[in-house]
Amino acid sequence: MLYYKPPMNIDFIILAAGKGTRMGGDSPKVLANLAGKPMIQHLINTIDSFPKSRTSIIVGHKAKDVEAGILSSKKINFIHQKKQLGTAHAVKQALPFLKKNSISLILYGDVPLVQKTTLKKLINSAAKGNLSLLTFIKDDPTGYGRIIRGSKNSVQKITEHKDATNQEKQIKEVNSGIMAVKSDLLQKLLPAVKNQNAAKEYYLTDLVEIANISSIKVGATICDAYEVGGANNRQELHDLERALQKKNASTLLAKGVTVADTARLDIRGDTKIGQGSFVDINNVFEGNNVIGRNVTIGPNCLIANSTIKDNTTVYANTVIEDCMVGKDCKLGPFTRIRGGTELSEGAELGNFVEANRSNIGKGSKGKHLTYLGDATLGQKVNIGAGTITCNYDGKNKHKTIIEDGTFIGSNSSLVAPLHLGEGSYTGAGSVITKDVPKGKLAVGRGKQVNLPKKK
Ligand code: UD1
Ligand code: CA
Repeated sequence: MLYYKPPMNIDFIILAAGKGTRMGGDSPKVLANLAGKPMIQHLINTIDSFPKSRTSIIVGHKAKDVEAGILSSKKINFIHQKKQLGTAHAVKQALPFLKKNSISLILYGDVPLVQKTTLKKLINSAAKGNLSLLTFIKDDPTGYGRIIRGSKNSVQKITEHKDATNQEKQIKEVNSGIMAVKSDLLQKLLPAVKNQNAAKEYYLTDLVEIANISSIKVGATICDAYEVGGANNRQELHDLERALQKKNASTLLAKGVTVADTARLDIRGDTKIGQGSFVDINNVFEGNNVIGRNVTIGPNCLIANSTIKDNTTVYANTVIEDCMVGKDCKLGPFTRIRGGTELSEGAELGNFVEANRSNIGKGSKGKHLTYLGDATLGQKVNIGAGTITCNYDGKNKHKTIIEDGTFIGSNSSLVAPLHLGEGSYTGAGSVITKDVPKGKLAVGRGKQVNLPKKK
């Protein structure tokens, strides 16, 4: 892609004005979530880096939501289609904005996974003066436009499902909707589209017949259903999601990451994982994550917007959100860390430990049943089982600072704000309300009395 130079300028036109009634719900279909991003965002990510290109998006239903839901590094030209009178009518709205001598590449917001290499081939075909389409084979083609081929495999026309004869309905080659044609040809052909059909809509697919009448060659390439299949309803969206997730998992395998089961890993957003790492079953990665090399992620973890460095082990059922985990750390089973918590090299947090807005210094450990909130731990601190930082007084949150080499006895309550000096100790079961100087042992608990048993 880096050195790709399209033969002409490209005008991408993305159709996204429809409501998507078949999807159910009120939200625009093109914003439906696919692998952690709005469906249309996948298209934007694919075309964003295309050189010599501009992007127009046709919006209508909940246009403001669609505009707000898209992130692009380029300026996008949003064009309003007041009434959704069909796909040809949608493209017509873009005609005044097209560059002279460009290729119009029409994409459907609900067909999100087309690849750059496929688009490049389509562009090259359109540059030769063809009307170029992408098709695919669908076992159950219900609802899709059927590709009617003629002699020598030429494409004569596309018949929409609603208008197809019983014989045409048997055809399994269907239209993806994706099409490229020189913009001057599009300007010429589009006004000839009429709405005399079962839906009373202006069908973009009628361009094929119109091109044939004008002796313009129509080229159709059969693609993988995964790549150009659409999502009109929840079932199709689910099928796309599963296919995309499996592909993501296979990409990891190819990069030297062991994935226990490609069907039981969900990457919702963008996650990088380094070579030699192992991802067990039922893991969910959300947002942006960077996982280093030789990291082990046990089963059933949720990892969101976090960094995990090399050689760290995350045991089963651990939740990591917005955190930075250093090298050689151990987390879990059943640990929850969040709120920008950072673990330095070799730190360990174990079962039923929660850390929030905290820093855990190099080699420090809290292995059981602990809450660390707004806490800063130095190096080699040992947190005994059941330790709680009491950081919240009902109004404000306060900080607990625990210096290097401190040993917190089991079941200590550390009432913040609090400072525990280097190498200090707390006795088990203490409620610590005052700072502890360097090297001192603090005991804050009732004295034990042994009373005689009542007879
Ligand atoms: C369309 C094709 C069909 C193809 C299928 C592939 C037509 C007439 N039919 O059918 O041949 O097999 O896609 O997925 O093109 N839209 C607008 N404005 C409108 C109408 C639609 O912007 O007035 C947008 C929709 O938001 C959607 C896209 O165009 O993103 C496609 O429309 P949709 O109604 O989903 O078309 P299909 O019935 O799927
Ligand atoms: Ca569709």
